[in-house]
Amino acid sequence: MCGIIGYIGNRPACEVIVKGLKRLEYRGYDSAGIVTEEGGELFIRKGAGKIDELTEKLGFLKMPGRRGIGHTRWATHGVPSDVNAHPHTDCTGKIALVHNGIIENFAELKEELLKRGHRFESDTDTEVIVHLIEEELESTESFEEAMRRALLKLKGSFALGIIYTGEPDRLYFVRNESPLVLGIGEGENFAASDVPAFLEYTNKAIFLDDGEYAILTKDSYVVKNLDTGEIVEKPVHEIEWTLEMAEKAGFPHFMLKEIYEQPGAIRDAIHGNADVIRAVAEEIAKYEKIFIVAMGTSYHAGLVGKYLFQRLARKVPIVEDASEFRYEFEDLIDENTLVIAITQSGETADTLAAMKLAKKKGAKVLAIVNVVGSMATRIADLTLYTHAGPEIGVAATKTYTTQLTVLTMLAVELARVLGTVDEDYLNELENGLKSVPEMVESVLKYDGGLRELAESLAEKSDFFYIGRGISVPTALEGALKLKEISYIHAEGLSAGELKHGPLALLEDGVPVVAIAPSGRTLDKMVGNIEESRARGAFIITLGDNEELKRVSNAFIEMPEVDELLSPIVYVVPLQLIAYHLAVLRGNDPDKPRNLAKSVTVE
Ligand code: G6P
Repeated sequence: MCGIIGYIGNRPACEVIVKGLKRLEYRGYDSAGIVTEEGGELFIRKGAGKIDELTEKLGFLKMPGRRGIGHTRWATHGVPSDVNAHPHTDCTGKIALVHNGIIENFAELKEELLKRGHRFESDTDTEVIVHLIEEELESTESFEEAMRRALLKLKGSFALGIIYTGEPDRLYFVRNESPLVLGIGEGENFAASDVPAFLEYTNKAIFLDDGEYAILTKDSYVVKNLDTGEIVEKPVHEIEWTLEMAEKAGFPHFMLKEIYEQPGAIRDAIHGNADVIRAVAEEIAKYEKIFIVAMGTSYHAGLVGKYLFQRLARKVPIVEDASEFRYEFEDLIDENTLVIAITQSGETADTLAAMKLAKKKGAKVLAIVNVVGSMATRIADLTLYTHAGPEIGVAATKTYTTQLTVLTMLAVELARVLGTVDEDYLNELENGLKSVPEMVESVLKYDGGLRELAESLAEKSDFFYIGRGISVPTALEGALKLKEISYIHAEGLSAGELKHGPLALLEDGVPVVAIAPSGRTLDKMVGNIEESRARGAFIITLGDNEELKRVSNAFIEMPEVDELLSPIVYVVPLQLIAYHLAVLRGNDPDKPRNLAKSVTVE
């Protein structure tokens, strides 16, 4: 996730762009850059660091020109650095471009471009785009046509801002699976990843759809279809948000915004790993002794990973909380060990210590991380990124579902390498994963109903979350979300464990949340629900089987999904329930008491 802002009009472009970048900083903040144009010359300043520091250091506000584009980066390919910061230029220096998204086929495109003599300055996937346009421009007079032809060669997600010295009066913006919105002013126009970047100047917005591009001049705009080049008529929306609301895209809290960002984040996780997962699976296939180490929500992702590895790759990892692993397992780690560390921030002290210990003992370390360039990525031998973008709410949401996405891809590919499971089933799972974002979208539509449910539960003091098999971690995560932000006591457990103690705590009206996707143990789950009901518990069930309605006080009907993919979809209503309960009880879900986003001390 990165931020883009473009301006064309009569004001000094740099001023509008710097303000816009500040408003987009939540989308990424490891580096930033600006391109402006005056007198047929491009001016580019960029570097690693925060926008305020860079504005001072590089003199962003002294850049000439009345048209330009800015970018704030959240690294995906290539560490945060001065050269990897956007904009990127072609070999002639006439085209400059910024990008938000991930180009899946960049490695092959880059190889071909290098063979044809293009010089690359950065390690980014983005730079291939600008060289591709340069190349197409050799065989056509029309920049627009060259751009279109080049972009049709890309696989993946991209929002782009493009400036070309050969056309002094315009800017190009493109959207494909990464957000982009136009701001329509009087004698000036804007484009940005998000409305707050230009809301100060205009509240008229046009939301581009996937596969569309826009050409902006100061007095006009036109939107076209990328495939055909034909004009698309777009409605102009009047935005009624205040600036503060707009920063959270109209959501009252970052947590809710991040819950709603999950479909896009999961898509990015799939795109961002499609071309690297095979190599990682091949590297780790030979290891039998596997540990998964993590803390908090990432630990729950690790538990889901265990079920995925067992069922698909026939390998049984030991999942340990990193704070335990670092003191308990030293004697068991050697060069035949694989340690998979899962960490959103890449900076959690216990997880880093566990990784260092593993390295010291000669183990292979694979990290699954959200923050590019974080410490964990520097310790690990191999890294897979979750591509969720910055997460500001302390309670992890989109970083969890993207961790699960990456683990699913890894387990499927490992099974393929090892030949442990029928290829047809693996293909089915892979296709199923691609439709998970839509399923999450459909579940997000229950938000209103879940809020009403939360209203009826706001005075409760204890919750139980139960699941079986791969849904046990979902139960744990549901309980953790509730504890973290609503401060209500909650326990997550395997439904089979109920009878061994917790059942004694069930009495009239105590909420029991049952995670019951169809699968191996659904009938057992029904039995456990009945047990709880018989003690007067208030049963809230998540499932896709109508039969469950009969045994539930509240039934949340979930889309049909393979049991192995269900953790990604089923956690979403649990996040929403926790969120609404926190708000109803007067808490700030973005900043829960006593908790930190990243725990960098032991
Ligand atoms: C803190 C956060 C949690 C997070 C955990 C692990 O407790 O509040 O949301 O799951 O740390 O963080 P990591 O960055 O390693 O995933």
